Amino acid sequence: MKVFLALPGNERLARWLAVQTGGAFCGLRTRRFPDGETYVRLGRAVLGDEVYAVCTLAHPDRRTLRLLLAAGAARDAGARRVVLVAPYLAYMRQDRAFAEGEAISARHFARLLSHAFEGLVTVDPHLHRIRALGEIFDIPARALHAAPLLADWVRVNVERPLLIGPDVESRQWVEAVAHRAAAPFAVLTKVRRADRQVEIELPALATFSGRQPVLIDDIISSGTTMIQAARMLRAAGVGRPVCLAVHGLFAQDSFERLSALAATVVTTDSVPHPSNGISIARMLADGLSGI
Ligand code: R5P
Repeated sequence: MKVFLALPGNERLARWLAVQTGGAFCGLRTRRFPDGETYVRLGRAVLGDEVYAVCTLAHPDRRTLRLLLAAGAARDAGARRVVLVAPYLAYMRQDRAFAEGEAISARHFARLLSHAFEGLVTVDPHLHRIRALGEIFDIPARALHAAPLLADWVRVNVERPLLIGPDVESRQWVEAVAHRAAAPFAVLTKVRRADRQVEIELPALATFSGRQPVLIDDIISSGTTMIQAARMLRAAGVGRPVCLAVHGLFAQDSFERLSALAATVVTTDSVPHPSNGISIARMLADGLSGI
């Protein structure tokens, strides 16, 4: 039987996946020992079961150890195999050492997860210099793509859209969304100077006048990229953009700052947040088969 083990905060999705796939739900009891160490206990027996640990990995440092302990508990309890369902997969952007001595976090994080799980299903991991999950994971790892969901949202909610990617890395998502939404697209040029400092240049957009700008990115993290792109579009007289992203992490007050510049801000529910307007649950349920 398929058992969906919900890490704290992922109960709704785990329950939904259990119902949709005819599986069972398993909660996790967890608490801190007085010295700060983590206690976990599975909420049900999983002997002989296929366990899907459901855990989105925003704020990974405070989630990963608990996740690894839960995976170990499932294996100790006789699970046939333990697969990670991580709607958002963390640590994928540090994909090379930019300075001597830096950790290539994407590789090390993938190695850690590869030891704990027999498979991984995730949504739009940030693949740039590492081109496929198979380059860094030693287990079957499947990336699902939210572009069709974003495109369908645009088709229903935006009249005469112009899709805009804030940097060259976003081109892959913007192009796919634009194609399905039958809309034109443009890609901006970004240079990142620091975590919260980016410079963005706009191409000539005059031929698209009268269209509603829709900024699309895979991740809004510090919000710097989207906020700066939205500022530039407004300064150029293009108007308030609709801001769409697959994963909304929204550090500090970035959601409020972006909302002040945007027509609206919409993300998928890969990371629970008030901006969630597009559900990835159905895609995840379908994406589990065969992993
Ligand atoms: C980078 O290449 C990504 O596609 C995003 O543009 C970036 O990670 C967003 O980060 P932030 O919100 O911190 O600017």
